Amino acid sequence: MHEYDLIADWYASQRTGAMGVPEVSALAASLPAGASVLDVGCGTGLPLTRVLLEHGCHVLGVDSSRELLAKFQANFPHVQTLCAPIQACELEARTFDAAIAWGVLFHLRHDEQARAIAHIARALKPGAVFLFTSGDAHGSVDGEPMNGVPFRYHSYSVEGYRDLLRAHGLTLESTHTDPGGNVYFVSRKTGGGDADASLSEEPECA
Ligand SMILES: C[S@@+](CC[C@H](N)C(=O)[O-])C[C@H]1O[C@@H](n2cnc3c(N)ncnc32)[C@H](O)[C@@H]1O
Repeated sequence: MHEYDLIADWYASQRTGAMGVPEVSALAASLPAGASVLDVGCGTGLPLTRVLLEHGCHVLGVDSSRELLAKFQANFPHVQTLCAPIQACELEARTFDAAIAWGVLFHLRHDEQARAIAHIARALKPGAVFLFTSGDAHGSVDGEPMNGVPFRYHSYSVEGYRDLLRAHGLTLESTHTDPGGNVYFVSRKTGGGDADASLSEEPECA
């Protein structure tokens, strides 16, 4: 999506709170030293990638916005990044001890979310945790424009996410909602999955 390129400065100036920090801190604290973490839709990396780095994680940041990724690279010049939509990016057979996707999946249409989850699941090691936020009611809605740019949001129900995750070898372990209304899904790779998740699109920036 190219919308975040249009609002990159504005988004960076607004993303000043600690939303997601308790959840990502708890995840990072549960990981072994030097764990590899895929940060999907990493944005500027503030504040969440910083939390991962402070815990000693090795991070790959993936984002489809060139503008936000430029800010990420300025913030964390030594962290590896990939500018691509997660549902179609080339992870080069890398595997990860965990993945996070804060505020990302609900920007993708339902079919794109399914492909994204398939792609992420394939890149996780057995036992790895995938923490993401989304909505918890099935549907698509127009949200409030951000800095004048319209955004549409898409979500599965909790049961829908549970089924989708299960199809790709992930077990939904818990959900909760933070004071900002962000719904967190904590899942773990427990199997190989049984869905056909062929990935054929070429990666490209927004
Ligand atoms: C609400 S922002 C969240 C950014 C960051 N996770 C944070 O905590 O501030 C959503 C991010 O997802 C990125 N994004 C949207 N669609 C994406 C996709 N298909 N693949 C990768 N990144 C995507 C946007 O460019 C943006 O950086």
